[in-house]
Amino acid sequence: MTPGKGAERAFRALGDPRSRPNRRWLDGLLGSSDREGTDGLLDELGACLDVEREIRRRHREAGRPTYAQFRAPFELYALVRRLRPEHVVETGVSSGVSSAHFLLALQKNGRGTLHSIDRPTLQRGRRFTARDSPVALPPGRATGWAVPDGLRADWDLRIGPSQRLLPELVRELPTVGLFLHDSLHTAGHLTFELETVRPKLSPGAVVLADNTVWTGRAFPRFARSLEVPVVRRGRTDLVGLRVPEGPEPPARGGGAGRPPSL
Ligand SMILES: C[S@@+](CC[C@H](N)C(=O)[O-])C[C@H]1O[C@@H](n2cnc3c(N)ncnc32)[C@H](O)[C@@H]1O
Repeated sequence: MTPGKGAERAFRALGDPRSRPNRRWLDGLLGSSDREGTDGLLDELGACLDVEREIRRRHREAGRPTYAQFRAPFELYALVRRLRPEHVVETGVSSGVSSAHFLLALQKNGRGTLHSIDRPTLQRGRRFTARDSPVALPPGRATGWAVPDGLRADWDLRIGPSQRLLPELVRELPTVGLFLHDSLHTAGHLTFELETVRPKLSPGAVVLADNTVWTGRAFPRFARSLEVPVVRRGRTDLVGLRVPEGPEPPARGGGAGRPPSL
């Protein structure tokens, strides 16, 4: 379970105590067929400390020294390196910790695009207070404000509610090799997003959802419909699944239906 030296250095450079990579989760998602390979991919992060330091610097500079809304950025990196997807889709960007790690892995793969959707939540006043959402944009910042400049070139970032933008995006894409839900955490919304991407999920794709403590049975129901297990990251409510490698993911009658209201 202990990550190698490179991953450990990256973890320290990012500075979020929750983000130490959980290899068991990766093994569960990837089928644990190549543990050494996975360790090697995590270890690569030791050569990318400038990215982790830059994310941390940007967080500090915006007055959010301990901010990192996504707890498994290094696993995202390893998944993209291993799966080598053509298209990665995520909903919920905020400062962009997840996005930066997807982008870094795609850059390293030398192929593939990250498509991100975010409807920003704005900080109410000049100072961050207890009344603000922890994901609120600091004044003068835009969605993805912590993503280093060197990673942004091929980033397809779309601003608006996923209720409207996700169906449009999915129509444009031939396949989705990795999907991360990290936007509005309600059961109805998660089901809407999962059912929207379902028809384009490639065989062997990975689907992840964070904060599932708020989304009831939505993710387990989706996993059951695909006849695969839910893979939980430790004792947290960050979960994932692997779409069967077989021909087509089982279709659910009627498609995504109407999105929940905006
Ligand atoms: C938990 S944060 C995302 C954290 C991000 N993945 C990271 O690594 O830092 C959730 C984000 O989703 C946005 N959001 C909330 N509802 C949304 C919706 N309906 N569509 C798109 N984005 C939404 C929030 O404003 C916020 O920026």
